Amino acid sequence: MNKLVVVNWKDHPANAAAAKTLAQAEDQQNVVICPPARFLPDIALRRSQLGAQDFDLPPEELERLGARYVILGHSERRKNLGETDAVVNQKVVQALQRKLTPILCLGEDWEQQFQADTASLSPAELGKIIYVYEPLGAISTQKHSKPVPASEATAVIERIRKLAGENAKVLYGGTVNKDNAAEYGKYPEIDGVLVGAASLDPENFKKIYDIFSR
Ligand code: PGA
Repeated sequence: MNKLVVVNWKDHPANAAAAKTLAQAEDQQNVVICPPARFLPDIALRRSQLGAQDFDLPPEELERLGARYVILGHSERRKNLGETDAVVNQKVVQALQRKLTPILCLGEDWEQQFQADTASLSPAELGKIIYVYEPLGAISTQKHSKPVPASEATAVIERIRKLAGENAKVLYGGTVNKDNAAEYGKYPEIDGVLVGAASLDPENFKKIYDIFSR
């Protein structure tokens, strides 16, 4: 399959032993596992790729610890830490220079964020980024969060792909779980998903993975 499942554990699980166990359960082709930076040294993967949650460690350190991807521009960071587009843009440029693949999250203001976060990049560089349409209001940690219906998400994803180039990978994120994953999996335009809370439960992960690995 060409579809990608990125799991964002955020600040979980509780300890390195639990992180190793969870990583083993999720170690599959076309999966990117993004653990908290403190667990990066503990996780050895055979099939999945390792990713990082932003530059919690300097990029060269992330690379040394085996990360090949980095989630940037996450809307919780934009909101809680006041991270600006200028900062996200710098990080995207830095990641590309280090050969880390940016997984760039675009929220409600996706169009404006796209322009600002990728300012100065060449078409070839735009094609190296993995984009995620993930509105803040769709993320499960937010009060009254609601996933974006798959048909609506698909329409935005198509528009992001127009800006990024036909070959760019564009994912959906926001409260994807075992009960709704099939909806997103139906659309060929959706190149995969970014999964937060549901990725902490191997059973939930497996159902989502099965849908996107068909
Ligand atoms: P969620 O998180 O799947 O729990 O909504 C996704 C994310 O914040 O990246």
